[in-house]
Amino acid sequence: MSISNTKLDIDFVRSQFPAFKDPLCKKWSFFENAGGSYVPQQVIERLNKFLISTKVQPYAEYPMSKIAGNNMDEATELFAKMINANSKEIIIGGSTSINLYVLSNAMKYSIKPGDEVIVTNQDHEANISPWRRLSEVGAIIKEWKINPKTAELEIESLENLLTNKTKIVAVTHCSNIVGTINNLKKISEIAHKKNAVVIGDGVSYAPHGFPDVKELGVDFYTFSLYKTYGPHLALLYGKEEILKNLPNQNHQFLEGDYPYTINPGGPNHEELVSLIGIYEYLMDLYSYHFNDQNLSVREKINKINDLISTHEEEVANPILEYIYNRDDLRLIGKNKINNKNRAPTISFISDNKSSQDVSNILVSMNVATRNDNFYAWRCLKALGIDTEDGLIRLSLTHYNSTLEVKHLINSLNKI
Ligand SMILES: Cc1ncc(COP(=O)(O)O)c(C=O)c1O
Repeated sequence: MSISNTKLDIDFVRSQFPAFKDPLCKKWSFFENAGGSYVPQQVIERLNKFLISTKVQPYAEYPMSKIAGNNMDEATELFAKMINANSKEIIIGGSTSINLYVLSNAMKYSIKPGDEVIVTNQDHEANISPWRRLSEVGAIIKEWKINPKTAELEIESLENLLTNKTKIVAVTHCSNIVGTINNLKKISEIAHKKNAVVIGDGVSYAPHGFPDVKELGVDFYTFSLYKTYGPHLALLYGKEEILKNLPNQNHQFLEGDYPYTINPGGPNHEELVSLIGIYEYLMDLYSYHFNDQNLSVREKINKINDLISTHEEEVANPILEYIYNRDDLRLIGKNKINNKNRAPTISFISDNKSSQDVSNILVSMNVATRNDNFYAWRCLKALGIDTEDGLIRLSLTHYNSTLEVKHLINSLNKI
């Protein structure tokens, strides 16, 4: 990927997030972004505005209701543009876990006994359990295992698992532990040769750059909006030609009315509308750094992605280098971000302290982090790491500053 020459103005970025001025938050160096990110003021403003003047049942003819409905549609349309989809392909649900359960429930009707489903042991459980449960309708579950030395998924192992009976390949775009970015485009290409459907989990990828789902070639793609600077919602993209044929999981009268068929209950209205604020924040970020206003939304997102990647690489690499060079610490995954081969999601364990102790020490020094298995317990098991004590995860995003990184490294010196 091309890396931008324009540098991200970190002061501008941080000025957009009220958390950094908040008396409680501002004392902390925040390294728990893979758990959930802060929100920019644009999201808060949209949420407030909705709650003040349009918090009524949407889609009636009176103005408050009309505006509410229009804003809900606008949020979906903007996210469709941002990821290069159309709005009939976008489901906004309560969480990625819920979205994938509903999807697997809908897909189980097309599974016959003996059909094969491939899951990994690198994924968060949200993209494993729903697919493993297809064994209840006769599916044979195959596990694409990480190489325990590198913690990485190797394409050749997938090639060995794929057969003409493979119906589904569920794989993470980026592990929430290892950080490596998996080549979802290549995975989709080889899975499609067997006519398998590819479900990509983008939860740990999307905060570092909204993907182009058409470019990736996936059939389904999911990410959690509360980790991409929004409220507690999640987006599921599905290729229209597949979505339209999935059996209805919603009220019976909604038969055929996709994508609502895969979204029982729908999203929280005010939170859905506040997603417009994510778009507004990104466009403000674009306009602050670039002049050309004639580009499409997707083209602007590409430029923002490059800007963010360059900055993330700059702030995360010193941490990776530090941990990698400490003899008593075991870093999981690649020791350097190079050309967006890795997200700034950094996990490690200590040889002589429990992860809980390390985390407690860091927290005592105002470094917001934690130890856990982060629901990727199969990955930890494969790496021989205690799933109770887990590992320590330092997860960055584009609003992390070099100042925070210096404080973190000083704090790591004390463990
Ligand atoms: C990689 C990954 N996938 C899926 C999920 C589940 O997302 P949600 O909390 O929206 O269900 C998470 C949550 O941490 C995650 O990190």
